[in-house]
Amino acid sequence: MLFFSGRANPELSDRIKRIMNITPGRCRIDNFPDGEIGVVIEEDVMGREVFILQPTGPPVADNLLELLLLGDGCRRSGAARITALVPYFGYGRQDRKALHGGTVGARLAADLLAQRFDRLVVVDLHSPAIEGFFSIPVVHLSAANILAHALAADLSNQTDVLVAPDLGAVKLARNYADLLQLPMAFIHKERLDGSEVVARDVIGAVKNRRPIIVDDMISTGGTIVSAVEALRQNGSRPPLAVIATHGLLVDDALNRLAPLGIERVVVTNSLSIKPEDSPVRLEVADLAELLAGCIHHLFRNN
Ligand code: R5P
Repeated sequence: MLFFSGRANPELSDRIKRIMNITPGRCRIDNFPDGEIGVVIEEDVMGREVFILQPTGPPVADNLLELLLLGDGCRRSGAARITALVPYFGYGRQDRKALHGGTVGARLAADLLAQRFDRLVVVDLHSPAIEGFFSIPVVHLSAANILAHALAADLSNQTDVLVAPDLGAVKLARNYADLLQLPMAFIHKERLDGSEVVARDVIGAVKNRRPIIVDDMISTGGTIVSAVEALRQNGSRPPLAVIATHGLLVDDALNRLAPLGIERVVVTNSLSIKPEDSPVRLEVADLAELLAGCIHHLFRNN
């Protein structure tokens, strides 16, 4: 078995290698002066089972292409089977034609990956339906147990409420509400543009309760800002926590969250996160054991 990783999340790659006690396959990844990415697989992969780690978060196009090039290099060098480990799948939110004349980016990204990989491991896709976009087997892992565990000790079903900040997050929030034995509420959100959203209604009992807001990702933070405002208008206390699998945290997202009085923001390390620079209490739950266990299982039971 051989393990390679792209450059998108070296910290997660290191943790997986340490847990599995493996040395990564040798490969070279560089940028040409014009920005093109060049990959050379220096390890002998002929006939080997290969795993390649690379989340396709920002810069999404570069990270996706780097992953495809790694897959291409291994395929051209004769690897027997290549599995892409993509803890965050970029373009996942483009899972339908939202506007007339629009595109379905998630389907295109799935088609590209299926051309170079034999199977795929992902964590908390934006919607489970995306699995169906792939013509290769997909192992869809969930970070729910890891994130719920990070919070469990602090919670009370007398004072707290699990909140889905939009209708898309209701199923996810239901899952957490069951795991944590909490009541649930949800918000009707409308998106105005890429970073601005407005919360229309809050459905469920939030008055005098401490919300725990759950989403699959925090990108610009706009969804959380509007959710917290709507919850306050409906009499909630300041949020105990925001939990999300993927911390994209673009466009100054953490500075947008800082004035909201949120006690804890908990994300996973599906993307490379630097918690020490954060203006809010940012905790990072580790996916390395989950992914290492998955690699081990796939390798042993192929
Ligand atoms: C939307 O459907 C997603 O589940 C997230 O709510 C959204 O993408 C978060 O983005 P932002 O932080 O920019 O509001």
